[in-house]
Amino acid sequence: GLKMSSLPDIKSLSALHSTLEEAKRAAAYRAVDENLDLQRHRVIGVGSGSTVIYVAERLGQYLLDPKFSIFASQFVCIPTGFQSKELILMNGLQLGSIDQYPTVDIVFDGADEVDANLQLIKGGGGCLFQEKLVSTSAAKFVVVADYRKRSPKYLGTNWVKGVPIEVVPSGYVRVLKDLKVKLKCENAVLRQGAPAKAGPVVTDNCNFIIDAHFGEIEDPAKLHQDIKMLVGVVETGLFIDNASKAYFGNPDGSVDLL
Ligand code: 5RP
Repeated sequence: GLKMSSLPDIKSLSALHSTLEEAKRAAAYRAVDENLDLQRHRVIGVGSGSTVIYVAERLGQYLLDPKFSIFASQFVCIPTGFQSKELILMNGLQLGSIDQYPTVDIVFDGADEVDANLQLIKGGGGCLFQEKLVSTSAAKFVVVADYRKRSPKYLGTNWVKGVPIEVVPSGYVRVLKDLKVKLKCENAVLRQGAPAKAGPVVTDNCNFIIDAHFGEIEDPAKLHQDIKMLVGVVETGLFIDNASKAYFGNPDGSVDLL
């Protein structure tokens, strides 16, 4: 099969920089190297967040390597939002649209929390709708994250900022009310921009985000369904039965696989 030639070796890189960024880079490089099928994959989803930066970086390295460029030059990358689109272009990758490529071969995306069953909380960066659109259109969904994202049992253990929920702007007060009355959620807030309370964060789809706290989530599938039924909700940050595997980078450059 095909082997790495001139691509930078992640082990030697990590020995030099034992930082959180290196943990993210290690997870992203390993995830791409182990899951990208150069001969079969053509349509590649590129997610959002600070870990996916290194996914795009790695894909760009394949493109520049003469040994792989014949395959990599045929990749079309599907973004999950504005940041992701910029990452694709910055790394010289070919940009495609989900409209043009409704079937995606593989997607690499970050997560805010990953439980033992590979259920996820996403949307910390506000890109949940397009992330869900692309990841549920993909044959394979590989999560890239650092060690802090792994939850031993339930979602809601490490990620204490609540479940992100994308809502239609004119319906946000109604969703806040229904979360409280119907779902007994005592702490749900409209996400506002910095400086504090400077106004609602507006998503790539011109919607708002509500962060709803439920404590530890024993049944994420049920919670997702309950939230999704509320009038005004576009999508929830609970990604259920969607991820294929997850790579967690550690500060020493090692990577754990789930
Ligand atoms: C954005 C997301 C991100 O994928 C998630 O927040 C992880 O980001 P990072 O890699 O920066 O920790 O869901 O909406």
